[in-house]
Amino acid sequence: MGKFCEEVKELSIEIMGAITESLGLGRDYLSSRMDENGMQVMTVNCYPPCPDPETALGLPPHSDYSCITILLQNLAGLKIFDPMAHGGSGRWVAVPEVTGVLKVHIGDHVEVLSNGLYKSIVHKVTLNEENTRISLASLHSLGMDDKMSVPCELVTDENPVRYKESSFKDFLDFLVKNDISQGDRFIDTLRIKD
Ligand code: OGA
Ligand code: NI
Repeated sequence: MGKFCEEVKELSIEIMGAITESLGLGRDYLSSRMDENGMQVMTVNCYPPCPDPETALGLPPHSDYSCITILLQNLAGLKIFDPMAHGGSGRWVAVPEVTGVLKVHIGDHVEVLSNGLYKSIVHKVTLNEENTRISLASLHSLGMDDKMSVPCELVTDENPVRYKESSFKDFLDFLVKNDISQGDRFIDTLRIKD
């Protein structure tokens, strides 16, 4: 487990380097804030079998408050929401299980970092009728009080700042006061309306 945590953290820095490079910010834009000063939260989920999977959910729909989340699952069960499908009304898509494959979710922090170019993915977990499902979700973020804000390099007159800055600590305060199982999303509180 220790080795998995270390290696997946290294991978997260590499993927975040590719993301910041794709935004024109360079590969090292966040590396020190994510590496020695960043946070990694490991969630180990165990979903017991459910005789009637239609009546229960493993995890309700949510997006992750991370920059990215790297996920390893032993069975299918993860579903992601595609908001563009069906002419904008959206639909749920099952993520197939491929042995040995890691899944990478874009979290709320990258949505802010990219000023909305990348969107954090809404996902949920359904239960399996016969088998226990185990997943390891590794969430990679800035430090607890380090605020993610829209970089000035990405802001122009035509493309103004679309999100307020926030830290992981701000998210924890939101968690205490809101019910994410009812669909409350922290990212919705950060959007600046124009
Ligand atoms: C999570 C999560 C998905 C899974 O822990 O945030 O979305 O497959 N887990 O368990
Ligand atoms: Ni999640």
